Amino acid sequence: MTDAHEAEYDDTAIRFLAALWGEGYLSPGGPDEVDRVLEGIDLSGRNVLDIGCGAGGITLHLARAHNAAHVTGFDVEEPVVAHARRAAETAGLGDRVTFVQSPPGPLPFADRAFDVVFSKDALLHVPDKDALFGEIFRLLKPGGTFAASNWMIGHDEEPSPDMKAYIEAEGLSFSMASPARYRQAMERAGFVDVVTVDRNGWYREVARGELERLKGPLYDTVSAAVGSAYVDKNIRTWTAMQKVLDSGEHRPTHLRGRKPV
Ligand SMILES: C[S@@+](CC[C@H](N)C(=O)[O-])C[C@H]1O[C@@H](n2cnc3c(N)ncnc32)[C@H](O)[C@@H]1O
Repeated sequence: MTDAHEAEYDDTAIRFLAALWGEGYLSPGGPDEVDRVLEGIDLSGRNVLDIGCGAGGITLHLARAHNAAHVTGFDVEEPVVAHARRAAETAGLGDRVTFVQSPPGPLPFADRAFDVVFSKDALLHVPDKDALFGEIFRLLKPGGTFAASNWMIGHDEEPSPDMKAYIEAEGLSFSMASPARYRQAMERAGFVDVVTVDRNGWYREVARGELERLKGPLYDTVSAAVGSAYVDKNIRTWTAMQKVLDSGEHRPTHLRGRKPV
């Protein structure tokens, strides 16, 4: 490990989430949801950065299905990056995909290094949104595109008791902000054509199905892989999450912007 950042997404989490969301995926929706984030954006021949790449399933999808010339997966945690590197080798994509791990903070890449910066459900972990978008803007070539999905909160006030209970159940370092706050940080950094697309209605129903599968058909096989206490804990987390998805406070959202030429 190259830093002291303690892993929140360890090997057990990777195995658990793979059972629910697919091999190498640490967020919901699979390749279809990634394709929706990228709708109308051509990655072929492009140099792409995937921020918070996790276990690499999406990074490989960007290279394989979207035909990016090169994809750099970046993450702050060691177990996910180790998993992603193994997956890239197994897939024979070692020459078109690179994984970089380094501590939170300034991103370890040169100015104007990428045509497209992508991210899936990772930016909620970064507390300083202005610094984050300053960095993303710096890394993009003029005319470059930022496209992401991210878990947001519907407002920037004190979270409701249900939202606090959900975040506590997750036990992860969430720094959630509203779509309006993300837009402000992007525009301050210099992005134009900023667009947000609400995905609460979609995930609210998908999550309901995930919880039913966890309690039912998946329970025994996933318990065999990660232990029943781990599955039970996540059933409690999903139950808490469903409340705030149904109330609309938890707002998965797509986010897009362009660096002017
Ligand atoms: C929910 S997972 C999503 C992973 C992957 N994008 C996917 O959808 O499968 C969030 C990821 O963000 C990473 N992360 C946490 N803090 C980060 C930071 N400051 N910069 C980049 N990634 C971070 C975590 O290590 C984790 O791999």
